[in-house]
Amino acid sequence: MAGIVLVGAQWGDEGKGKITDLLADDMDYVVRFQGGNNAGHTIIHGGRTLKLHLIPSGIMYPHITPVIGNGVVIDPKVMLEEMDQLEADGLTTRRLLISCNAHLIMPYHRDLDGASERRLGSNEIGTTRRGIGPAYMDKASRLGIRVQDLTDVHILRKKIEAALVEKNDLLEKVYGLPTYTVEEIVDEYMGYAERIKPHIADTSQLLNRALRSDQWVFFEGAQGTLLDLDHGTYPFVTSSSPTAGGACTGTGVGPKAIDRVLGIAKAYITRVGSGPFPTELDSTPGSIGEHLTMKGGEFGTTTGRQRRCGWYDGVIIRYAVQINGLTDLVITKLDVLSELDTIKVCVAYEYEGKRYNDLPCHQTVFHHARPIYEELPGWKCDIDHCRTFEELPKEARDYIAFLEDLAEVPVSIIAVGPDRDETIMRRWERRP
Ligand code: GDP
Ligand code: IMO
Ligand code: MG
Repeated sequence: MAGIVLVGAQWGDEGKGKITDLLADDMDYVVRFQGGNNAGHTIIHGGRTLKLHLIPSGIMYPHITPVIGNGVVIDPKVMLEEMDQLEADGLTTRRLLISCNAHLIMPYHRDLDGASERRLGSNEIGTTRRGIGPAYMDKASRLGIRVQDLTDVHILRKKIEAALVEKNDLLEKVYGLPTYTVEEIVDEYMGYAERIKPHIADTSQLLNRALRSDQWVFFEGAQGTLLDLDHGTYPFVTSSSPTAGGACTGTGVGPKAIDRVLGIAKAYITRVGSGPFPTELDSTPGSIGEHLTMKGGEFGTTTGRQRRCGWYDGVIIRYAVQINGLTDLVITKLDVLSELDTIKVCVAYEYEGKRYNDLPCHQTVFHHARPIYEELPGWKCDIDHCRTFEELPKEARDYIAFLEDLAEVPVSIIAVGPDRDETIMRRWERRP
């Protein structure tokens, strides 16, 4: 049995797409288990760049079955456009399977996401405005519309009718926005239904069978640990469970099916949207923050927004190890640090004279936490060509060893460039 989970250990954009694509060759299934098209996962290989939002990052390999699990919220329009684009690029999406229990993002979810952000003004969360939060709200309040509802127009109509009673009131009376008729949404979604139906499956049963028969299943997280609804920097989080437990609830497999949990982190850290960020760097021209932004290409894959950059935060990673039960760390973008004279790592926080080695549970402390840094020497040379740990300059090896000691988890894979090949496999055995 091989169930392998990959989760973001920071605030997202750690390079999940790249690492999923890299490891996918050995897998039978690559499964998304939460989030929606708020995710933007980039894959670069052989001069080809793919930016995926909903389709799992195993799509480059024709032998893999990509699966969208029940924990994902699906905007059918976006998904079909993404499938069309992949087909136009010569990749097949024929094998894609979609859980019958996944929820659908509806037009009013997108409207309400934008409207509630506008209403929050300077307190906005900085969502991707893709309707993610409102879709999960409806799931929790049992007003959601699921993929399986697309197979029966009568049920679909009844559910849309029930939802619109509340949504139209909200749109019109609270936000002063246009309303929807039942028929316009039914017509639109029945149009998508024809194309989606052949992909609908009982994906929980399928994955459980696969795991029982020793097939390899890779669970591709979206977002990151600190964006988790329960464990992240609430309320500046997404509305799903990007942590490892989400792989079980978001696909319908039990925790004993998971053999390995990889946590992925950049060699520094970034965040998009609002919320606290203890190690954030200033990004004015000539600053280190600006250097990381430009060299790391830190602009959102989904929204194009500039990502906030900061030094690697060891407190956050220790927290991610704990919350996810990480067995391994994957460190990406080590190459982005190559020109720096020295590199800082946050090893603890300080607040009102007290030292915090672990993530403080009270948000006021986290919001005002001052990072305590250790400063390490830089390596000041290109490392993009390195393919073994030994080829890395001593300072880079020492940097990785420092992160490893801090996390108390081995760093098993190191990425030194965006391409699939620009990777060092330290502790990863290929499938026999
Ligand atoms: P994801 O959301 O976790 O899949 O990450 P994104 O794709 O949103 O952002 C990561 C970005 O970093 C992408 O543009 C990747 O191509 C790029 N990337 C991934 N690994 C590396 C690396 O080791 N070095 C560099 N320079 N870029 C990388
Ligand atoms: P990947 O999978 C980085 C952030 C948004 C916002 C917050 C809530 O590419 O790592 P939402 O639209 O989810 O309600 O927004 O979460 N966010 C991400 N940040 N990477 C992502 O995905 C993100 N998905 C959501 O910027 O702060
Ligand atoms: Mg991303």
